[in-house]
Amino acid sequence: MEKVLAIETSCDDTSVAIVNYDGKFIKTEKSVSYSQIKEHKKFGGVVPEIASRLHNEKIIGILESIGKDNIVKCDKIVVTANPGLPGSLIIGKTVANILGEYYGKEIIYENHIHGHIFSILLGRDIDKINLPIAILTASGGHNDIYILSKNDNKFNLEHIGMTLDDASGECFDKCARMLGGPYPGGAWISKIAKDGKNDDDLKIGPIYLKQNEYKYSFSGIKSKVYYAIKQIEEKYGSLSDQDIKNIAYMTQEAIVKSLGKKIIQACLEYECKTLSIVGGVSANDRLIEYIQNKTKKYNIDVIRPIKKEYSTDNADMIGASYLGKKYYFNLSLIN
Ligand code: KG4
Ligand code: ZN
Repeated sequence: MEKVLAIETSCDDTSVAIVNYDGKFIKTEKSVSYSQIKEHKKFGGVVPEIASRLHNEKIIGILESIGKDNIVKCDKIVVTANPGLPGSLIIGKTVANILGEYYGKEIIYENHIHGHIFSILLGRDIDKINLPIAILTASGGHNDIYILSKNDNKFNLEHIGMTLDDASGECFDKCARMLGGPYPGGAWISKIAKDGKNDDDLKIGPIYLKQNEYKYSFSGIKSKVYYAIKQIEEKYGSLSDQDIKNIAYMTQEAIVKSLGKKIIQACLEYECKTLSIVGGVSANDRLIEYIQNKTKKYNIDVIRPIKKEYSTDNADMIGASYLGKKYYFNLSLIN
């Protein structure tokens, strides 16, 4: 049994959780988060200075909600060290160091992407997750493919794919903005896409880079959306509600197919038994449906974090990353 206090402040969520390993499961005991989205919304994206100021303002109140008695019972403090906004990361790290010094607890520095990768462990029976696993991390700031495997009794986490430009969540957000939607835009596009349909004239489609590589590019989809909007505006003056829904539909299809093709290819090439989708974009039901349909005949388990709160940034996954690497996978990875 080990219990940790986990802290995540890498971007626009101030999040603290108590996460434990009870000999079988990794579970959240208590978790408190503050999402800064409404403060960044009016600027159409995260403003780093505002993010760090808000982390600074909120983190003490969040720690008070977690409770001193609970904090004292933790064995260690785990904090996100990178990657992220430097001014935001420093708030979490400073608080972790002060608490560590005051209560005499060891500090563990964790990697944010590993947090997303191991977010699938939260509340899940590890014996039911079959290895190797092909992992797609898809969010506003990152878009990568990893393979978690076991050879000769040794676990290995291999980074095999990445985006060359924008992340898929970033593409959702930028396209939503061009369509007059809110920030962040992924959930909004997904919602209005339900009433949209394909419009062949607009030529918004997936982008597949080299067949034998696991590289993504999403800035091209953003450009296609930009030119589709221009094309309609030149012809009709402005976009109708139905045009907006159609472009949302095509944008989602383009992103989903681009993401799906490469992660499925990786899953098959590495003979994975599980395909895991993590990060904010894993909340997209169409992506899961598409990948499930395409992998049905191969008998691959398609999984994502058990709760939507574990898909987007949270401290629970940071605790799960430390505990999962230590107790399940015996991985010592450089952060
Ligand atoms: O993991 P996350 O909370 O933060 C980063 O580390 O970036 O991911 C946020 C991203 C945003 O780009 C947001 O638009 C996207 O996840 N997202 C979605 C959905 N919900 C959140 N994208 C597509 N469909 C959704 N339902
Ligand atoms: Zn993230």
